[in-house]
Amino acid sequence: MTATIGESLAGATERLRAAGSETARLDAELLLGWAVGADRTAIVAHPDAPVGADAAGRFEDAIRRREAGEPVAYIRGLKEFHGLAFSVDPRALIPRPETETLVDIAIGEVMARLSDRPYEAGGGPGGGGDPIRIADVGTGSGAIAVAIAVALRHRSVTMGRHVTILATERSPEALQLARENAVAHAAADGMRFVEADLFPPVLPDDGAPLDIVLANLPYVRSDAIPGLPIAASFEPRAALDGGADGLDEIRALLARLPDVLAEGGVAFVEIGADQGEAGPLAVAEILPGWHADVSTDLGGLPRVLRIERG
Ligand SMILES: C[S@@+](CC[C@H](N)C(=O)[O-])C[C@H]1O[C@@H](n2cnc3c(N)ncnc32)[C@H](O)[C@@H]1O
Repeated sequence: MTATIGESLAGATERLRAAGSETARLDAELLLGWAVGADRTAIVAHPDAPVGADAAGRFEDAIRRREAGEPVAYIRGLKEFHGLAFSVDPRALIPRPETETLVDIAIGEVMARLSDRPYEAGGGPGGGGDPIRIADVGTGSGAIAVAIAVALRHRSVTMGRHVTILATERSPEALQLARENAVAHAAADGMRFVEADLFPPVLPDDGAPLDIVLANLPYVRSDAIPGLPIAASFEPRAALDGGADGLDEIRALLARLPDVLAEGGVAFVEIGADQGEAGPLAVAEILPGWHADVSTDLGGLPRVLRIERG
């Protein structure tokens, strides 16, 4: 007998709740939408529609995987970030909503820098001078770099001419996923993908320094990893583990800034909500005389460390 959407959702929600999901109903709606090839709103709007046999099989498989703790985003192969759909799989961390704060700050910084330039005939930001050089360090799925490139395109900014983005990553698998996402969003123009430990030995454009460095590097304390929700155990540990106090990778990045950042350049680094004091302290230790301040995310929690030369 064919179950309806409403019956399928009710049964799956019950099972996911029993398995410990705190978002059981939402998970079930997203996964049923994925299984039938419709978006979640259509699922919610048609509780009496039948679920076909093939879709029911896909849904059952998805619910079993979710019961075992796998993140919904990996099961669907998709995560929404900054209004865009990103392909996600275990090659890289699933982009988090709090990282949208870093993206918004970066877009504001780019637009402010471009607005200092004279306007061109025909509209759009002034094209004179070098492009603004951005790096997204530890790009993972490419979420930050791609979201910025797409948002700038919507503001008539031409990638390559006004802005370039260097996306670096230590994991070649993650870097390949970032490339795929950039191509899927037609955002690969003006973007370079480089496998590197933080930065390549020689920056692109004959080593030209960077104007804006962005980084969402791992910042979870090693001893906090076992306490994360089970879904995180499906993500690459190297994308989460920031060492004893969570700041190992961020400290390594800070140490490289004097060499890579242009005069007047700025770095924005995502930090954990509990690192609002430790982040600026690390800057004071490693980069004496430089300025550091912290912006909060939409939840009012410390989230982005801004670093500039003194
Ligand atoms: C927290 S994840 C963030 C991924 C992506 N930027 C995002 O916001 O969703 C950190 C990423 O940094 C990469 N990474 C860690 N240490 C790195 C290093 N020293 N150099 C380059 N990439 C690094 C990891 O492989 C991982 O993909």
